[in-house]
Amino acid sequence: MSTGVSDNDNTVSKLSSMLIDNTLPMKLRFRILFTLKTLNGKHAIDAINLAFNDTSALLKHECAYCLGQMANQYAIPYLLRVLNDEKEDSMVRHEAGEALGAIGCYDNKDVLNALEANSQSNYPEIAETCQIALDRLKWLHENNICDSNNKKPYSTIDPAPAFDITDISDLRTILLDEKKSLFERYRALFALRDLGSDNDNAVLAICDGFQCSSALFRHEIAFVLGQLQSVCSINALKSQLNKLDEHYMVRHECAETLGSIGTNECQKLLELYLNDRDRVVRESCEVALDISDYVNSKDFQYCNGLKLVEMEC
Ligand SMILES: [Fe+2]
Ligand SMILES: [Fe+2]
Repeated sequence: MSTGVSDNDNTVSKLSSMLIDNTLPMKLRFRILFTLKTLNGKHAIDAINLAFNDTSALLKHECAYCLGQMANQYAIPYLLRVLNDEKEDSMVRHEAGEALGAIGCYDNKDVLNALEANSQSNYPEIAETCQIALDRLKWLHENNICDSNNKKPYSTIDPAPAFDITDISDLRTILLDEKKSLFERYRALFALRDLGSDNDNAVLAICDGFQCSSALFRHEIAFVLGQLQSVCSINALKSQLNKLDEHYMVRHECAETLGSIGTNECQKLLELYLNDRDRVVRESCEVALDISDYVNSKDFQYCNGLKLVEMEC
């Protein structure tokens, strides 16, 4: 007789209890989270939502990121609650705003209202994110696009669609033009990223973005460099991580990107900041060193939470 509980439900509930177990190392909880992201579905989303009760801003912001990338409207109420929670860390709220933009529901009034209200936030990273998300929703609506997932090699849902421009110097000019909207500058950034997999000049143009005034923009620069994993960005990432007065959201993203590049030099630098005064940076370095182990080992899966669940049994 069927109990109504599938193997998948059992797996998700095991992963869920591991995700919220704060005695487990952060690097393991990240792998669990990314396994839940791959599984998708309502139970996985409920499991990720439970982790918003944690005290780690790093974990919670990654939970919001994953919910956005899962592109499932079931997550919308959870993300709205996080975005609207004034007591929540601004990096977590930023990621919830971006995730709502990624899910892309132009006809959902609750989403539009929340993004509009939070585009006036006193935290620039929240206000700017919500404005970009609104611009994205409007762009999708005007262009009649429902599914804006990228083609390979980047399967992420980007906060802005890449421009159809291939001239690196033109794109760099837009990227660095502080008078233009962040949405447009993001469009230049993703166009440069799409050129950057075999073009160091595109990577170096992206690195120039670290000189810009918006912390949100600088964190996106670091994130995109993580997708590219190019050794020619190491120096720029290194000097940004070394700036102790840089926003922790930017230093966090630089750390994880250095982990994904994963050379000896990157690992040594990450070890140096394992005891950083900022918790987000400390935990990012722990996760980044784990990512580095992953990229340096050929037949190893990052989303190996399922294997971990089997080992538990
Ligand atoms: Fe972010
Ligand atoms: Fe991040």
